[in-house]
Amino acid sequence: MSMQTSGLAIETAGLVKTFGETRAVDGVDLAVPAGTVYGVLGPNGAGKTTTVKMLATLLRPDGGDAHVFGHDIVREADTVRGLVSLTGQYASVDEDLTGAENLILLARLLGHRKPGARSRAAQLLEAFGLTDAAAKQVKHYSGGMRRRIDIAASLLNTPDLLFLDEPTTGLDPRSRNQVWDIVRAVVAQGTTVLLTTQYLDEADQLASRIAVIDRGRVIAEGTKGELKASVGAGTVHLRLRDPDQRPLAADLLRRLLDAQVQPDPDPVTLTARLGTAASQDTAAEQAARALSELAAAGITVDNFSLGQPSLDEVFLALTGHDTQASGSGSGSGTGPGAGADNSPNPKDEVAA
Ligand SMILES: Nc1ncnc2c1ncn2[C@@H]1O[C@H](COP(=O)(O)OP(=O)(O)OP(=O)(O)O)[C@@H](O)[C@H]1O
Ligand SMILES: [Mg+2]
Repeated sequence: MSMQTSGLAIETAGLVKTFGETRAVDGVDLAVPAGTVYGVLGPNGAGKTTTVKMLATLLRPDGGDAHVFGHDIVREADTVRGLVSLTGQYASVDEDLTGAENLILLARLLGHRKPGARSRAAQLLEAFGLTDAAAKQVKHYSGGMRRRIDIAASLLNTPDLLFLDEPTTGLDPRSRNQVWDIVRAVVAQGTTVLLTTQYLDEADQLASRIAVIDRGRVIAEGTKGELKASVGAGTVHLRLRDPDQRPLAADLLRRLLDAQVQPDPDPVTLTARLGTAASQDTAAEQAARALSELAAAGITVDNFSLGQPSLDEVFLALTGHDTQASGSGSGSGTGPGAGADNSPNPKDEVAA
């Protein structure tokens, strides 16, 4: 591992990247502690890939500055390149080669001798559950296998900092879990991971800190708990026996809890978001009082829960729109390679 003076794997100040009129990254400040998973959460077109590419020295910033383990990403780009590895949003392995051939070839390009390349490839294929598929061409891999071979390729040399750009977009739940396990194992070995995602639960599962980005700007940053606390004290979910009682119940909740109440699509359920002012304690007290008032008003509650706000609710509260609103939607099963506004522009890419 490299010298870490600040304990930060990444530090950026006012990072900017423009493409013509588009300010893809519009003054991003990040501080990523070494040895952790850091989540960058944002919808389509938020500027996640552009940020990652700058930090991985594949794109040159137009403004601001950034350091990776204390090294300037522009002036010390070669040093930075030696410390980082990137698993891009779109597959980087050769479709016509087998899994094993891909890893051996890439290991050779990284300077491993033939026997070393072979054994490292075999080791990674084993670790990623791809031994049986080692001799298959990658074009015959499933989406989940492809993501795993991609991540394996970026771990041929153990990097100090690994960028994972939407590692699970388009994967089924089982494959997502496999990738999550891989990420946990990588961090356990001391690698810092910067993970971009459109999935709130993914950031919730893996990241210790999260930056929420929207339209090229960081709109919120902190631990999961901090982010949730900045949005509200919690959420009350109610299931009523009688749908006709819902308007009355909503009214009571609004008055008693100072809550924003939304009628759910299901006619017997209600969701109430508690205001920021209430601490977790008073939220519970208020909710208990609300329950007894509902009972006193003759409203039968079949089911009740009080939870912390979900990251989805966090995003809605921070941006005023939901996570699907600024793009074509996420994870619709179209797999890697889909995404209309991401055609790479070779002129802007810096040769690796
Ligand atoms: N090479 C490019 N040329 C022109 N515009 C670009 C280029 N790369 C990105 N953009 C634009 O910059 C903005 C940010 O794009 P970016 O790919 O960084 O978003 P993202 O957060 O990674 O989105 P997604 O979740 O869809 O991958 C978008 O408006 C995109 O259209
Ligand atoms: Mg992207």
